[in-house]
Amino acid sequence: MAAEFSPALDLVLDALQQMRERGGKLPRASRVSLTELRRPVAHKPTELASLVDKAALLAPIQARVAVCVKCPHLAASRTQTVFGVGNPDAELMFIGEAPGADEDARGEPFVGRAGQLLTKIIETMGFARSEVYIANVLKCRPDMPRGSSGNRPPTPDEMQTCLPYLAEQIDIIQPKVLVALGATAVEGLLGTRGTMREMRGRWHSHHETPLMITYHPSYLLRNQAPSEKRKVWEDMLQVLERLERPITDKQRNYFRT
Ligand code: URA
Repeated sequence: MAAEFSPALDLVLDALQQMRERGGKLPRASRVSLTELRRPVAHKPTELASLVDKAALLAPIQARVAVCVKCPHLAASRTQTVFGVGNPDAELMFIGEAPGADEDARGEPFVGRAGQLLTKIIETMGFARSEVYIANVLKCRPDMPRGSSGNRPPTPDEMQTCLPYLAEQIDIIQPKVLVALGATAVEGLLGTRGTMREMRGRWHSHHETPLMITYHPSYLLRNQAPSEKRKVWEDMLQVLERLERPITDKQRNYFRT
């Protein structure tokens, strides 16, 4: 609970205690609840995080996203929205571009070919997919002309419309590290469109949360050169170091040529 609410809370607690002692029917707070409320105010973010049920905070946002019609063309063409998946208490959060056909069908981000590669990367880092959180800039699949397969990048309007949902997710999850997968995620998080070659592999900051930029897994599917895999892996090693996770020699040497 925020420190600035502490004096007000004390007043309320005193009033409640007096009412209880006078024997009236109110208040209905138990002694246990009152003792809980009197516990010292938590100051450290880690303590705060442990007091907050982040899944319960995400649920109403997910419900709003599920019925969102702010982009009528996307609402009309989607099978369902794709909110995000993983651990609401994750210390590591990956941000992608938008759902593809597989994600639109399943309602879960990164479950197609690129997603399977992302899962492999996450597991090679030593995490289970369920330990991290994965979300996209766009919660709807960008619509494609009838009869054509493939994907298109989100338009600037679609991104501006949808980004507040991602901002809410990040605010609640408060990961220790964010990873932007590809240029659309970078544009969504930083508002800039640089070249991936210049931006990847370096630390950036998103509202004071360290942000690592790396290539989108679909880039690695298109370009199978070990040198490109190594670049992404080096970016992930930096992430592991930032999270103070143990790194084995085997992990350090993956994709070294
Ligand atoms: N590509 C993305 O950026 N996000 C997904 O969820 C799937 C593929």
